[in-house]
Amino acid sequence: MTKKLVLITGAAGFIGHHLLDYLLQKTDWNFVLLDRLDLSGNLDRVRDIPSYEVDKGRIRFEWHDLKAPVNESLAKRLGNPHYILHLAASSHVDRSIEDPALFAMDNVVGTVNIMNFARNCSNLEKFVNFSTDEVFGPAPEGHAHKEDEPHRPSNPYSASKSGQEAFGYAFFITYGLPVVTTHTMNNFGIRQHPEKLLPKTIRSVLNGTPMPIFAKLNKKKRLEAVGSRYWINCWNTSSAVYFLLKHGKPGESYNIIGFDEFTNLEIAERIAKIIGKKLIPKFVDFHAVRPGHDRRYALDGTKLKKMGWKPEISFDKSLHDTVKWYLDPKNQHWLND
Ligand SMILES: NC(=O)c1ccc[n+]([C@@H]2O[C@H](COP(=O)([O-])OP(=O)(O)OC[C@H]3O[C@@H](n4cnc5c(N)ncnc54)[C@H](O)[C@@H]3O)[C@@H](O)[C@H]2O)c1
Repeated sequence: MTKKLVLITGAAGFIGHHLLDYLLQKTDWNFVLLDRLDLSGNLDRVRDIPSYEVDKGRIRFEWHDLKAPVNESLAKRLGNPHYILHLAASSHVDRSIEDPALFAMDNVVGTVNIMNFARNCSNLEKFVNFSTDEVFGPAPEGHAHKEDEPHRPSNPYSASKSGQEAFGYAFFITYGLPVVTTHTMNNFGIRQHPEKLLPKTIRSVLNGTPMPIFAKLNKKKRLEAVGSRYWINCWNTSSAVYFLLKHGKPGESYNIIGFDEFTNLEIAERIAKIIGKKLIPKFVDFHAVRPGHDRRYALDGTKLKKMGWKPEISFDKSLHDTVKWYLDPKNQHWLND
């Protein structure tokens, strides 16, 4: 029997390379990686996967910017995949506020271009379209969004992801493309971009410098509430995607929920405790600094849970292991900008 071929777009990014690592361990499949290697894409992540030297014969890499269509020559090199995992995206909210058109190009046009390629893949069993909790906009206190609730994106990043999802559904209805959509929330893990909360907190705790924490401040600049998120580590996200390759129904979307909700302050304090040093929090009004930045996101994970999926690793273990990995001198270069 021929082995499955999997195309991962954005595989040099943070979640993409963890998904590759997970699937290398769990399957005997072959992989073709597509990435344009921008500021967030780094092939060192792939080369740093522990089994890379053993498994590199199962991996091919193609450089391409999905703002451009997949031409005939690239299509031949990509081959005829059984699964396409589409993670390539511009993903930094602050940058989307500076350059919204780029996000429309990367996340909407880029998705249409890879889906047009996918339409001609005769082996294709599933196309996983990676979206985000942010498409629903902020979640009121006590509410967690279910998969089919209306989208209310508050910034250009989430608007572009909502457009990406809309094209996924349209390609499913119009062309029968087997699109499964995922909504994930704040992912953490090793080799994350240094500007994200985890590496940034580790850096400031190690250096003894103040750590900015987004919060709601009143007119007198007093603290009213701290921003909160649900967290998941990339191993659990990858495990949910693997589960959906088997059990996900084309045309449907699925919320991937890892752990409980934590405020950014709680996460930062836990990291400081693992390091064994003091956190110096500096509260910053999130709306003053980042217009379009939402204070709380929340997803309801009942659908996937009822289907039988649950996270493989606990929050405490994954946070502990991640922080300890960064503290190892041979990994500390991943903390630097
Ligand atoms: N990180 C999170 O917490 C999170 C949460 C929810 C959803 N997501 C979604 O998951 C996916 C992966 O996120 P991530 O954090 O790994 O992102 P990332 O920014 O680390 O990686 C994105 C990768 O895509 C590549 N890329 C971007 N635009 C491209 C283009 N036009 N053509 C080819 N390659 C391109 C980049 O070079 C990079 O390697 C994204 O779709 C993101 O919207 C992420």
